[in-house]
Formats: sequence, structure tokens, C-alpha cells
Amino acid sequence: MDGRNLAVQEIITLTPEQFTRFQRLIYRETGIRMQEGKVTLLSNRIRQRLRHHGISSFDEYYRLLTSGTVPGEMASFIDCITTNETHFFRTPTHFEWFGGLFLTEFATRIREGGHEPVLRVWSAACSTGEELYSLAICAAENAHRLVGCRRVFLGTDISEAVLARAREARYTSRALELVEQRRLDRAFVADPDGQHWTVKPAIRQGCEFRRHNLLEPMRGGPFDCIFIRNVMIYFDRGSKEAAVRHLVDALAPGGYLVVGPADGIHDLVGQLQKRDTFLYQKP
Ligand SMILES: C[S@@+](CC[C@H](N)C(=O)[O-])C[C@H]1O[C@@H](n2cnc3c(N)ncnc32)[C@H](O)[C@@H]1O
Repeated sequence: MDGRNLAVQEIITLTPEQFTRFQRLIYRETGIRMQEGKVTLLSNRIRQRLRHHGISSFDEYYRLLTSGTVPGEMASFIDCITTNETHFFRTPTHFEWFGGLFLTEFATRIREGGHEPVLRVWSAACSTGEELYSLAICAAENAHRLVGCRRVFLGTDISEAVLARAREARYTSRALELVEQRRLDRAFVADPDGQHWTVKPAIRQGCEFRRHNLLEPMRGGPFDCIFIRNVMIYFDRGSKEAAVRHLVDALAPGGYLVVGPADGIHDLVGQLQKRDTFLYQKP
């Protein structure tokens, strides 16, 4: 690397000290443990905020961010450092379980007087909403089992930017790759441009999105089923412990927790009983 390139590199990549400072801040705010190897990724993401403010140094941006003088900057920073990858019916077996065994058992409990006629489902760390709407689609497909039962579907995330997109409920084909044609026709309205599909109002009814940090206790609930997938993979043990504690508190007795394939919380679930590789139940 010649001198000129080295100079550019210094400007555009966080130094180890800068990386550590941002790493600590991110951990404190979100529970996400940025690995040391992510210096280029983090530099690239923070550079978007530098460009936005027209400033050229990471130190200056850190001062601006932590001074609290720019309203909403911490939220924008969190928006740009979180990984929001998701799609409809991601890990299809989880949705087969929800639409099959779970709803059958739930409907039986209501019928036998063991549960009030309200189904409460929470997609925690819902990103742009595909997970919550996939669950709402499963419930709509099983409407005959849920006659007279109110449905409350809540999606939460720490990032305001993804929540805004979730509320819009408009997606490209990339998010819909696992949605079979029959479901697409039933649950979505196609844009005239042929490039976008919007979730139908009948499915969106009962779906609500709001900001929530998993490191904090949950208001609302208790929930009969919580999907918490592909987020704790970014947490260290301390963050996972805090998040799992709050999730268990938010579960109704007999309620289920569905976790992602790589979320690794089996030694933290305490009183929950393991029902499958991805599934835990509160006694
Ligand atoms: C990879 S997406 C997972 C989306 C969806 N659950 C799925 O499995 O497809 C992870 C999401 O977790 C959110 N997230 C990260 N830290 C969080 C925290 N402390 N509290 C709430 N959400 C958080 C991110 O903003 C991101 O949208």
C-alpha cells in the first residue's frame, strides 16, 4: 500500500481505539457484541452517518453521537449498525408448527375453557415485518379454528427504520421467495409495476409494530407465542441472559418460545421445557 492509500485507509477505517469505543457504546445500547474482525463493516456503516452530517472524523462523530445534541442521532446510528436480513416464512418448519400443532392445541384450550378467546403473538426483533406477517397469514389460514378469538400480533425491534418499513407492509420478490403462489394470491396485493406486493388489509388487521429493546422488560402481554429468531446470535452471554429473562417473564403459562437455529440459548432457559430443537414451553 503506498503512502497516499495508507492515508485514505486511516481516514476510512476505525483505529483499534475508535473501534473499541464504538464497540462498547453499541454493546451498552443494544446488547450486540461487535466482533474484532468487523472493523471494516463497522467503519463502512458509521461512514454513512459521517456523510450525512458532513463530517470527516470518527472521533468527531463519536462526540456528536454521545453529546445528545442531535435529537434522534442515537436511533439513526442504531438503524445503520443493525443487521436486518429477513424474509417471509424463514425456516418454514417453525411456521408449519405454528399453523399446525400450536393453533390446534390453542383452539382446543379455548374450546375447553382453559384460555380466554384472545391469541397474543409477539415477533421480538421483527426487522421489516416479514416474520410477524407470516404468522398472521398462518392464523388467517386457520381462521376456522379461531372463530370468536381476538388476534393480537405484535412486532417489535430496536430499529425505527425497519419498523417504518414493516408498517408499510410492501415487499419485493426477494422477501417472498418462499411464499407459494396460492398464498401470494390470497395474502398479498400486487402493485401494477409487478415488482412489489403489499400485505392485504385483512391480514394486517390486528398487527401492530412498536420499538422495543430486548435488554429491557416488555410492557404488554402475556404472550401465547414469542418468536425470537436470528438476533441473539449477535449477543454475548450477558445480553442473552437479560433478553431471555424478559422473554420468559412476558410468556403466558403454557406459552411457547420459538428460537432461531443459531441463537444458542439452551443453557439459559431455566424453567422453560424444551419441546423441540427450536421450541421451549413455559410450564
Ligand atoms: C437478522 S434480523 C432478524 C429478523 C427476524 N426475527 C428473522 O429471524 O428473520 C435481527 C433484528 O434484531 C434487531 N435487534 C438487534 N438488537 C436488538 C435489541 N437489543 N432489541 C431489539 N431488537 C434488536 C435488529 O434491528 C434486526 O432487525
